Amino acid sequence: MKTSPHVALARAAASLLLAAPLLASAQDAQIERKVAALLKQMTLAEKVGQLHQLSGRQFTGPTSSDYADKLADIRAGRVGSMLNVKGVADTREIQALALQSRLKIPLLFGLDVIHGYQTVFPVPLGESASWDMDAIRQSAHIAAREAAASGIHWTFAPMVDVSRDPRWGRVMEGAGEDTYLGSQIARARVLGFQGAKLGGTDAVMATAKHFAAYGAAIAGRDYNAVDMSEHQLFEVYLPPFKAALDAGVATFMNSFNTLNGVPATGSAWLQRDILKGSWGFRGFVVSDWGSVREMVPHGYASDLSDAAVKAMNAGSDMDMEGYAYSAHLEQAVKSGKVKMSAVDEAAGRVLYKKFELGLFDDPYKFSDAAREKAVLADSSHRAAALEMAQKSIVLLKNGPRPLAGAAVPGPLPLARGLKRIAVIGPLADSQRDLEGGWVVQGERAPVVSILQGIRRRAGATEIVHAQACAPGCATLDAASLEQAVKVAQQSDVIVLAVGETWDMSGEAKSRTDISLPGQQEKLFEALKATGKPIVAVMLAGRPLVFNTIADQADAIVYAWFPGSEGGNAVASVLFGDYNPSGKLPITFPRSVGQIPLSYAQYQTGRPVTDENNVVYKSAYIDSPNTPRYAFGHGLSYTSFAYTDLKLQRSGAGSMLSFDLANTGARSGEEVVQLYVRDMVASVVRPLKELKSFQKVLLKPGEHKRIQFAIGPEQLAFFNRQLKWGVEPGEFRLMVGSASDDIRLEAPLTIP
Ligand code: BGC
Repeated sequence: MKTSPHVALARAAASLLLAAPLLASAQDAQIERKVAALLKQMTLAEKVGQLHQLSGRQFTGPTSSDYADKLADIRAGRVGSMLNVKGVADTREIQALALQSRLKIPLLFGLDVIHGYQTVFPVPLGESASWDMDAIRQSAHIAAREAAASGIHWTFAPMVDVSRDPRWGRVMEGAGEDTYLGSQIARARVLGFQGAKLGGTDAVMATAKHFAAYGAAIAGRDYNAVDMSEHQLFEVYLPPFKAALDAGVATFMNSFNTLNGVPATGSAWLQRDILKGSWGFRGFVVSDWGSVREMVPHGYASDLSDAAVKAMNAGSDMDMEGYAYSAHLEQAVKSGKVKMSAVDEAAGRVLYKKFELGLFDDPYKFSDAAREKAVLADSSHRAAALEMAQKSIVLLKNGPRPLAGAAVPGPLPLARGLKRIAVIGPLADSQRDLEGGWVVQGERAPVVSILQGIRRRAGATEIVHAQACAPGCATLDAASLEQAVKVAQQSDVIVLAVGETWDMSGEAKSRTDISLPGQQEKLFEALKATGKPIVAVMLAGRPLVFNTIADQADAIVYAWFPGSEGGNAVASVLFGDYNPSGKLPITFPRSVGQIPLSYAQYQTGRPVTDENNVVYKSAYIDSPNTPRYAFGHGLSYTSFAYTDLKLQRSGAGSMLSFDLANTGARSGEEVVQLYVRDMVASVVRPLKELKSFQKVLLKPGEHKRIQFAIGPEQLAFFNRQLKWGVEPGEFRLMVGSASDDIRLEAPLTIP
């Protein structure tokens, strides 16, 4: 019988699919043989060299006194990797030194490519507000493409630390407070950075960091200790790391913090038992910057040599700028404190990645001047940065007061045909502040400020501008304030750009007071007194506390640090060319006193049932328990109706379905969110946990049946023995537009 071409093709595809893991494992075995053969030729000093990572000249500077020694170490094969060296010219120059070493083992070049390389994308927390996994993956892919064209093999991203404490400046670098959302984003970022397979010249190795629990530093103070139950660790803080691993992440970075008394860098339980043991991680672990050395001030190691022993025995493979392995590891092996097999294993893990990247075949594979030039000039990257910035913007408030002549209830989108718009504030014409922290490429793409973006789209409307005070607004002098008020008085509407400066969020940027810095509230109040409608555009790397503006502004657009195309993105939202679709990936508290605050809190024995009567209830006497803006909150210029919920058995689980309709006048995207509560269990469960979501685009009047599969993934949890499973009993399934805006619910019984 003749086989049709379609069937033949399908069969060929199926056999290829079946063959793929076999091919992969054949390739793995081949690399393993090469690694073993190479290790046999290496001296102990050379093996230790592979575990030593140095920062390069961009950081230390060619004038740094030990620069010459560093170059000599590279030539001697005593360095395995460099960070902070970038660009084709520099990476070629340094790689050439490594190739003068006895075994000519190429260097790995790592860099913190966190939210773009040359084209700056929104900060990771901002991107997370898009809840759009394709866009996030694309952003990471473009960052990787640019970095990989500029000599970089490896990025120290994504940061997958869950954090529920906006005092901690590094919330900016992560995906926010939620385990499930954070896990999805971890996966998207790893796939984006690494592409289909390591070794492509448009991909870099990714790093899941900081392992583990760094986001729970006590009191939100950076580098501080972490003390948490193992249950909390397994349930909330580890899953995004596991998701990164399942997506194939090449490396892990450990963390600065102690976890329950043991520095993460010295924790064999975290690195050997969990990560490399039960999770089966086959890549390598890099320490955080100097974290091996820092075990001395922690009081966990007596000196640098003891720190080297403890970190290596705990499974920290590479020492980033700690100089502990380079100074002491050889001796530790000779004295028997560290087994040779531990060093072999660590060096083998590093060498494996160098083979996998193809560096032994071509050490300059990522350093091609023509490709660097072409890729860094690719204009499609800016288009993607604009789209990502639009998707990351969250419309926190819109209304109730409509502008005269506006067809919609809120002041936004701004009506066409306004006579004059006043663009005011310290961040209105700033460029650097739109980029946020972790911008590592010196010659970055030009940034469009908010004022420039508004001018480009304003048409016949006149745009008037007053800065009022410098970014940060430490002082606000009477003359500048008067000038701003005068500009405001002549306008139909005020766009007020306020927030943090780029360097107020990020590493070592913890704040005890997360209100709007400086005199910005005062500026708002003076403008408010003009009676003109105010649209506040806020930039920040974290949730801020801004109660006056939340109460009195007519609309609030939270733009995070939106990147190179930030001004265009903000303007497109203000004028309605883009309908906002972002949702908060982290709770916005009313005050610092409520922190840590998450929607996924536990029920107490004394829950508040009536906000007016909280006596002897789990409450505050001076504040509601509720946040200012809840996790998952974000408005649109259209409206969505949720109706007709059905729960049906389906296979081994159930299918929850409902109808979602766009009931407004514009196309828009809604993020429908599924939350679950296990009503009674052997371990008390949170009031709500996000278990799934979908981002759905609907035209006006259009509706769609949305389905969520309900199975063990949605219902299971870690019990007291840290075993993952579903306990029978009652569950509540909730779907809604935000964690505090549940539209439909259904009970579910698991017999
Ligand atoms: C940070 C890491 C970063 C490393 C290298 C450290 O201070 O904690 O996240 O990757 O520096 O720059």
